[in-house]
Amino acid sequence: MKRVLTGIQPSGHITLGNYLGAIRPLIQLQQDDDVELLVFIADLHAITVPQDRQALKKNIKELAALYLACGLDLNKAHMFIQSEVPCHNQLGWVMECNSYIGELERMTQFKDKKQKQTEGISAGLLTYPPLMAADILLYDADLVPVGEDQKQHLEITRNLAERFNNKYSETFKVPEPYILKNGARIMSLVDPTKKMSKSDANPKAYITLLDDINIAKKKIKSAVTDSDGNIKYDVINKPGISNLLTIYSALTNISISELETKYQDSNYQTFKEDLANIVACFLTKIQSKFNYYINDSELDLVLNSGRDYAYHYASRKIQKVYRKVGLGRN
Ligand code: AMP
Ligand code: TRP
Repeated sequence: MKRVLTGIQPSGHITLGNYLGAIRPLIQLQQDDDVELLVFIADLHAITVPQDRQALKKNIKELAALYLACGLDLNKAHMFIQSEVPCHNQLGWVMECNSYIGELERMTQFKDKKQKQTEGISAGLLTYPPLMAADILLYDADLVPVGEDQKQHLEITRNLAERFNNKYSETFKVPEPYILKNGARIMSLVDPTKKMSKSDANPKAYITLLDDINIAKKKIKSAVTDSDGNIKYDVINKPGISNLLTIYSALTNISISELETKYQDSNYQTFKEDLANIVACFLTKIQSKFNYYINDSELDLVLNSGRDYAYHYASRKIQKVYRKVGLGRN
């Protein structure tokens, strides 16, 4: 049985890009009989940058409900909240004490965030990778699906696992990265040469899974395209229509070439109207499931059972680590 583990930060809106690029491929992994999925909401990671208390609480629950709405199969997957399993902090500290400041300062994401946020940079922003390593190593994960931007953090996780194993004897499984391959890269609806991102200043650039249906339709209908009017996939010369074809194809499983044939005598307006309806239908389904979970006590039961499952495994690992390091009395 392969254990697949991933963490997601509860940072607000989940876009169609996040869904098609990260969530759906993860959900598809469940179809493999030989896979067990551990998905956690990385709330401890979220507080490396300032958070509003109420908003954070809301985002944590919403993300959990969205995962269920997107089809997380509870026969194959366990979902929990990172801060509810204190072993993450416990191993995080041990990992920090085995990390070097120099290697942490070299992390691209730290350098980027430090540059963007000039005031009050928390120490947690620097020590985030050893906590992420702890998240993974606690569970002997085989595969860790992450986006490109997290590759470096996975590399340091592997280094920390090997460093610990060499110093204290074999303790951790060295995990393999699983860079999400079959996930589409979805572009901004305003500037299709840029990635669709929830941090875009213009909300017309992205669609979130919880967007109002009519607003989402409008965003598709007003998506930037070109002026030649041909519905053809050509990322270089026609990035806007190519992006819409990618979204259409991903949501319907109709291939792009079939779509090109279907719309060869059509125009952008008709194509966009059809796509707007497809997006609306998709969002309606997700939102009705979301509304069910967010208001139902089942969500808490799922998170309780995920927490207990995770704690059972992780607490044994922590005991082993403490013993090897020489902490406490046992
Ligand atoms: P982020 O929202 O940047 O933290 O990304 C969370 C996950 O969603 C990562 O695995 C990203 O690779 C994926 N992702 C984010 N934006 C897109 C996008 N526009 N298209 C495809 N995947 C995306
Ligand atoms: N750092 C990841 C992100 O920002 C989230 C994360 C935290 C994670 N711990 C993890 C991902 C462990 C995979 C495994 O997207």
